[in-house]
This record gives sequence, structure tokens and C-alpha cells, in this order.
Amino acid sequence: MDVSYFIKQYVKSPRMVGAIAPSSEKLAYKMVEDINFINASCIIEYGPGTGVFTEKLLNKKKDSTIFIAIEYNADFYKILKERFKHETNFILINDSAENLKKYLNKYNIEKVDYIVSGLPFASLPEAMSKKILFNTKDILKVNGEFITFQYSLFKMKLFRMYFNRIKKKKVLLNLPPAYVLKCKVNY
Ligand SMILES: C[S@@+](CC[C@H](N)C(=O)[O-])C[C@H]1O[C@@H](n2cnc3c(N)ncnc32)[C@H](O)[C@@H]1O
Repeated sequence: MDVSYFIKQYVKSPRMVGAIAPSSEKLAYKMVEDINFINASCIIEYGPGTGVFTEKLLNKKKDSTIFIAIEYNADFYKILKERFKHETNFILINDSAENLKKYLNKYNIEKVDYIVSGLPFASLPEAMSKKILFNTKDILKVNGEFITFQYSLFKMKLFRMYFNRIKKKKVLLNLPPAYVLKCKVNY
């Protein structure tokens, strides 16, 4: 279901969906492998799509950890809503990641530990990417981490505008191969 569904969404909205297939299991594993699930009290996911990273995060997080996923595409949102309807402390939002702060205020959350992103920064409008990254840096705790993946490194300059410590790893077992970027701020 996942791949044909993804292609359909990509054809409808290529710049926002940004991929013709969901990420691989291997990429999902690499995205979450260094997260300290014991200490995290709040985790955010941008652009969960059909839920490849979401599933991993839900399986690993503590019940008490609040996990908010924000997906812009209404069709993906419906799939996720059904797929993860029995999860504890999981909040799914159908909106743009640009508007996350509004929801953090609603749930009285000031700062978060991790933001895991599936957003296609290579094709999103520049102003949207900048607003999302500015807010991301603002809501992360001092040692918080922004974890994203990209199919190329041509947006590195954009990420460096907000994060001065970026570790990158290439994951070949994905179509296409991808870079996982783990971004922090050294204050
Ligand atoms: C490349 S897909 C990744 C999906 C999934 N995380 C994966 O890796 O298989 C990008 C996802 O980001 C979503 N998206 C794009 N722009 C968004 C935005 N501004 N806010 C929230 N989600 C967005 C798309 O609808 C899509 O689900």
C-alpha cells in the first residue's frame, strides 16, 4: 500500500511530499538510533508521511514521554490517525510544521528534547523552511537535537544558519540513498 499511495501523493503535491516512496527501515533505524529515550520528556516529528519513523519512535519511547507528530497532508494524516489510534501520549496534528508553536502553547510545552524531521527541505519554499528551522532551534532544550534526512547535501548552508554542530552519516540502503543529519547548537 505504502509505495503506490506515496507516488499518488507525490504526483498531487511533489514539492511538499518530496519523495516517491517512504523511507526504508534502515533509514528509520539510523534516524532514531542515538535518541536517549530514557531522558526524553517530549519528542516532535515533522512530516511523518505514512509513519515509518513514527512507528520506531512509538515503539521505543516511554509511555510518559509526550510525542507530537505534525503532518500537513490530509490523506497521510488519516492513515496515521487510524494506524496509531491506540497509542499513549501521542498527539497527531494535521497542519504545517510552521505552526507547531501554537500547539505547544495549547499543551503547555515550552521546550522539547528531540525533533525528528521527514520534511523535504530541498523542495519546500525557502521562507517556509526558514520559519520551521528558526522555530526548531527556539523550542529545543539546550542539549536538544534536530534530526533530519536529506537526499543531497546542497541545503547544508541552510541548516548551518541555525545549527553549528552537525554530524552526518550516509545511509545507502534507502531509495535514493540519504544523509542523516544530527544537528545541535553549541551555546
Ligand atoms: C519525504 S516525505 C517523508 C515521509 C516519512 N517521514 C518518511 O520518511 O517516509 C515528506 C513528508 O513531509 C510532509 N510535509 C511537507 N511539508 C510539511 C510541512 N510544512 N509540515 C508538515 N508536514 C509536511 C509531507 O506531506 C510528507 O508526508
